[in-house]
Amino acid sequence: MRIAVIGTGYVGLVTGTCFAETGNQVICVDIDAKKVEKMKNGVIPIYEPGLEELFLRNSNEGRLKFTTSLSEGIKDAQVIFLALPTPPGADGSADLKYILKVADDLGPILENYVVVIDKSTVPVGTAEKVQAAIAKNAKVEFDVVSNPEFLREGVAVEDFMKPDRVVIGTKSDKAKAVMTKLYAPLVRQGNPVIFMDERSAEMTKYAANAFLATKITFMNEIANLCEKVGANVDDIRRGIGTDSRIGKRFLFAGIGYGGSCFPKDVQALEKTSKENDYDFKILKAVMDVNENQKTKLIPMINEYFGGDLKGKTFAMWGLAFKPYTDDIREAPALYNIDALVEAGATIKAYDPEAMPNVEALVGDKITFTSGPYEALKDADALLIMTEWPQFRTPEFEVMNVLLKNKVIFDGRNLYELDEIAEKGYTYYSIGRET
Ligand code: UGA
Repeated sequence: MRIAVIGTGYVGLVTGTCFAETGNQVICVDIDAKKVEKMKNGVIPIYEPGLEELFLRNSNEGRLKFTTSLSEGIKDAQVIFLALPTPPGADGSADLKYILKVADDLGPILENYVVVIDKSTVPVGTAEKVQAAIAKNAKVEFDVVSNPEFLREGVAVEDFMKPDRVVIGTKSDKAKAVMTKLYAPLVRQGNPVIFMDERSAEMTKYAANAFLATKITFMNEIANLCEKVGANVDDIRRGIGTDSRIGKRFLFAGIGYGGSCFPKDVQALEKTSKENDYDFKILKAVMDVNENQKTKLIPMINEYFGGDLKGKTFAMWGLAFKPYTDDIREAPALYNIDALVEAGATIKAYDPEAMPNVEALVGDKITFTSGPYEALKDADALLIMTEWPQFRTPEFEVMNVLLKNKVIFDGRNLYELDEIAEKGYTYYSIGRET
């Protein structure tokens, strides 16, 4: 098939690259000329495990191309993916200006029947708006389909190539046939393609993310209560996760969820509820709890240092909102940096991927080190913000020498309590006894 992907952000680039890998001819369109030039020269603009190899192979074999021209990109396309940003507007709702602008531009230049696919996370009713915007000037038949993306950063290629399910919102049989053919190579193991109407598909995406954010937040609240009653949240996770109705995944308590999706989508769903006169109480609680959770370690740090952090130096392991990404959007680390610097502390940070992004954001507010151990030198304590696997089994003998105090504030529960006690560390974590 001939596919155009409009927008080469995270979702667009993964979509374009993976569909090229399944043998389609893909043209990616982006208004950022510098980025397009780089991609034409084989430079991938994002870090995502496994993506670069596919990106290079498909570019070299001529199945993956790039352009800044919308009309060139969509020429002869049978499907057009819209993978454009939907940033939260001032009122928390998703801003559709980028999507609707492209929809406006598409109308007059469509030359044959095409399926236009909303891949971005968009509020309920967006497919109809896109339909109307294209229809204003379209001279040919077309369908607009909602096909939300469920990929996770860090494992996006795998999620795309082997999706748990594919959700397709359309009432058009013609579009259904095109979508079925397009996804056939990805669902050979029998994973379901679930058809529904456009509005339900749009809502499915928000429901999935809001449910997962709620699941995490529920565990964070259990953790907070565990600290009060002297229970261990990790045992509780194992105790309840083995119930197949609950499931083992997404039950890890920590310093809150972040990233570009959960915070934005929970907020947008709450906004949609309000607009429709529905008081979605759980979502408000989820946002509220998560806000506090991000800086949950700060009172513990203050308690340990007697309320005065002036002149203290903290080693910070992890900056990205989760491992295997350089993404720092809504990363809890940023909130902790702000709180600690505000209190007069100094931070030496290490992250395997995210340091350039944090440096671009905070400048010389903190310093960066070339490895995890360098950050520990003469630090008053270690703070763990992201569960990169390399932090899981550190060399405690080396740490003992470098750190001024044997104290760790761990926002991701990386270590077993008995193991850490044996090493002689004072250990603060989430939902477990210190
Ligand atoms: C999330 C969803 O998982 C994807 O299905 C969805 O497609 C994507 O948003 C999106 O809307 O585009 P992502 O933001 O990449 O994917 O990250 P997740 O792996 O879901 O993690 C989100 C946050 O939850 C992270 O901050 C992570 O640290 C936190 N988390 C996750 C926990 O605190 N505990 C857990 O048990 C699991």
